[in-house]
Amino acid sequence: MTAILGIETSCDETAAAIVEDGHDIRSSVVSSQVDLHARFGGVVPEIASRAHAELVSGVVEEALVEAGAGFGDVDAVAACHGPGLAGALLVGVSAAKAMALTLDVPYVGVNHLEAHLHAAWLEDPAVELPLAVLIVSGGHTMVVIVEADARYRLLGQTVDDAAGEAFDKVARFLGLGYPGGPVIDRLAADGDPAAIAFPRPMRHDGYDFSFSGLKTAVINHVRRHPDVEVRDVAASFQEAVVDVLLTKLVAAADEAGANTLVIGGGVAANSRLRARVTEVAEDSGRPALLPRLALCTDNGAMIAATAWWRLQSDGPTPLTTGASPSLRLPTSD
Ligand code: KG4
Ligand code: ZN
Repeated sequence: MTAILGIETSCDETAAAIVEDGHDIRSSVVSSQVDLHARFGGVVPEIASRAHAELVSGVVEEALVEAGAGFGDVDAVAACHGPGLAGALLVGVSAAKAMALTLDVPYVGVNHLEAHLHAAWLEDPAVELPLAVLIVSGGHTMVVIVEADARYRLLGQTVDDAAGEAFDKVARFLGLGYPGGPVIDRLAADGDPAAIAFPRPMRHDGYDFSFSGLKTAVINHVRRHPDVEVRDVAASFQEAVVDVLLTKLVAAADEAGANTLVIGGGVAANSRLRARVTEVAEDSGRPALLPRLALCTDNGAMIAATAWWRLQSDGPTPLTTGASPSLRLPTSD
């Protein structure tokens, strides 16, 4: 049995978790900084770094206590080392390296996108490959095939805004606060998704995404119809995003012969996306793998789980490897 301590500080959540053997979550603690950033309408990097520095030790301690473990039980320490905000990443990476060095255990640097991809895997470690995966977060939107040999093939990604970014920007325009995804999700539940026929950009056009035109369409519509029901705007916007995401995920699965549909990242918490993926999976007789909500948004468990796999395949990460704000998903193409 290998217990890994995983630390996540790439954006605005300070998180730590203890995961055994890549799938058994013994604890997962997330301290969100949302309140600190909300009044600025988005994440302020310097505020994020400072908050991570203040919070990280306490969050790690809490993760150990929750797991009923001590530092002596930790077999490796992992941290997200990119992509993300440079100063924010450095806090987690430095903390993890210091702990690994002190405890004389391996350090593992983990790719944030790979971790979002692994979050669903945690739910079913024995899932049959290949998988068609949609990674949808505040910073990224991509369709990836996990090949039978576990390598990643990137089919497409956003050419402008990420899906979560579109939710956040539309919410901000509508005066709904930050982060926008959960608020739009909630409002949309009472709205009519067919009320406004927003465009579905690039829906049948390869595997790349574009959401900035949709955002502009929402803004123009609301300016032209100031009395429109906000919940109808939310539901119609959400429906357009989900339509595009789902169409590409299914097309990717068909093309790659992938049996299982997988989603990951903060937007994977969206109730409409989850319902539609489940529906399509049932209709087409394919399994769907949806991470539980706590594993969609940033967390330490996905870092610790991914580290376990990486430790098996690549061994420890040298302590000379720094943080990489623009790290890419390690793909085979
Ligand atoms: O994965 P994540 O926690 O951080 C990044 O790696 O970016 O994703 C955060 C994003 C935000 O844009 C947030 O608005 C979005 O995920 N999000 C949602 C929902 N919950 C979070 N978007 C749509 N519906 C939700 N329920
Ligand atoms: Zn994330």
